[in-house]
Amino acid sequence: MSIEASLKHSYSLPREQIPATSVEQIEDAERAALTEKITAQLAQQNAVLIAHYYTDPDLQILADATGGYVSDSLDMARFGHASDAKTLIVCGVRFMGETAKILNPEKRILMPDLDANCSLDIGCPADDFAAFCDAHPDHVVVVYANTSAAVKARADWMVTSGSAVDVIQHLTATDQKIIWAPDKYLGDYVQKATAADMLIWPGTCIVHEEFKGRELAALRARHPVAKVLAHPETPATIIAQADLVSSTTGIIKAVTEMNAKEFIVATDKGIFHKLQEAAPDKILIAAPTADKSATCISCGHCPWMAMNSLRKVCQVLTTGDNEIFVAPDIALRARRSIQRLLDFTHDKPASKRAGDA
Ligand code: 13P
Ligand code: SF4
Repeated sequence: MSIEASLKHSYSLPREQIPATSVEQIEDAERAALTEKITAQLAQQNAVLIAHYYTDPDLQILADATGGYVSDSLDMARFGHASDAKTLIVCGVRFMGETAKILNPEKRILMPDLDANCSLDIGCPADDFAAFCDAHPDHVVVVYANTSAAVKARADWMVTSGSAVDVIQHLTATDQKIIWAPDKYLGDYVQKATAADMLIWPGTCIVHEEFKGRELAALRARHPVAKVLAHPETPATIIAQADLVSSTTGIIKAVTEMNAKEFIVATDKGIFHKLQEAAPDKILIAAPTADKSATCISCGHCPWMAMNSLRKVCQVLTTGDNEIFVAPDIALRARRSIQRLLDFTHDKPASKRAGDA
């Protein structure tokens, strides 16, 4: 029986449950006023902004300018853990705020919008996942960072896109059988790279699964010297055409370091801010997100990441709303799986991890 058949129902998010991507439009005068106010509030409250690469450029610029941090999900967690700040404003999606709280129970964690979730997290309900793990007790449980605290609490290891291949290789060296959740495309990619014995949960990222192989091939034909850089959450038809498959940090590094002028990038469009900043002389092209068979035209930008904005950061700093809490028993167990990864990657900053090479 396939995994899909053994599970109770489909874990793909129905179209009607996906919010529309809506980026707040803001005039220059309001941007300047908010930037000034937030900068003062951060200093007064001993707070820092930690933003993911997919969030609004305004937030990324402000995080960089105020001693905060912009990065991938693993390095956001590591920065928050190492920071002396009393409050972390996590601009990203729900699981990033939860991970920050689990690693820093003594810190106040605020998020601009508590509805900022992730289709991978939503598509892996903790009860169903626990039942699936219980049915396969001889498997090591490895979950992607994009999961709830309760799912991490059921896992032996948490991994990120930049560390997944290394961790699975490590487990395979001792012949361990693995349950992988929730991203099936990342799971397939890791399985092929490591030849591991893996049961793969059928979740997807609604942004990355919209990238289309046939359209990418046509685009490559029009740009024959362009290098293709893909996030491992993209489908196999994209991975097969990629010159590099890597985490967000790895993609940015590749654009600066690869000996090429032109790149086709298959990941959330939010990353183009850092790509352009890091390599202003390079030609950057967004990979196509729909072909004739597509049921909708995806915009290639995560609707939940887009919920973060300057206005909302100012609001939570003013009111203290949207604090993240994780039940202590769940936090304790989830921390073990997260800490395993932090210890495993301890001597490997983002620039050195295999997935980022
Ligand atoms: P990274 O770990 O590469 O930042 O990816 C997180 C994510 O949500 C990708 O969609
Ligand atoms: Fe989740 Fe995809 Fe959005 Fe990343 S881009 S937060 S994986 S829905």
